[in-house]
Amino acid sequence: MYQITKRLIRNLLLFTIISACGTKITAADPNIISKSQWNGVESINELSEQALPIGRVIIIHTAGAGCQDVDSCSQQVRNIQKYHLDLHFDDIGYNFLIGNDGNVYEGRGWDAMGAAVKNYNNGSVSVAFIGTFENDPPTDQALEAAKSLLEMGLRTSKLAGDYKLLGHRQLTSTLSPGAALYKIIKLWPHWARRAR
Ligand SMILES: *[C@@H]1O[C@H](CO)[C@@H](O)[C@H](O)[C@H]1NC(C)=O
Repeated sequence: MYQITKRLIRNLLLFTIISACGTKITAADPNIISKSQWNGVESINELSEQALPIGRVIIIHTAGAGCQDVDSCSQQVRNIQKYHLDLHFDDIGYNFLIGNDGNVYEGRGWDAMGAAVKNYNNGSVSVAFIGTFENDPPTDQALEAAKSLLEMGLRTSKLAGDYKLLGHRQLTSTLSPGAALYKIIKLWPHWARRAR
């Protein structure tokens, strides 16, 4: 009797521990600065819908100046939108942008097709780090923000469970996302050697 009770208690204890560990530890959602918060203008035309879930993530750098706080990042994002509108895009080309301040800046979002990498916009979400990351990587806060954005994409089924993550330079002749950033994303779990 004593043995059985002991085993019962042990099993119960084990079960409790396993249950506690099984509770999925989800990273906090990133802080997303909406288009109205960064004071963007509305898209010129209706954007094409993206088919969900999205199977490809493309990591880009904007190749301009970096930014360190909401004010300077919002200014950068507005500049990029103006630049893309001047090129006759319907909106800022990127789906999301990441500031060195650790915030995610909403571009076209998950549901609209981006205009970031020719021939790859359909089926891709473009995540552009604001700045040039050839020599120095983005801040840890920026990298964490991007990672939690992608986790959120998985959790909300915007991203396919087996999505592939690629650097911009894998798809076209460009330095983007910069050597320092590319080295980092190659270590991320979904990074793929090939787009297809
Ligand atoms: C995007 O790709 C899907 C699936 O291949 C296709 O059905 C859809 O028409 C494409 N959309 C555009 C705008 O090209």
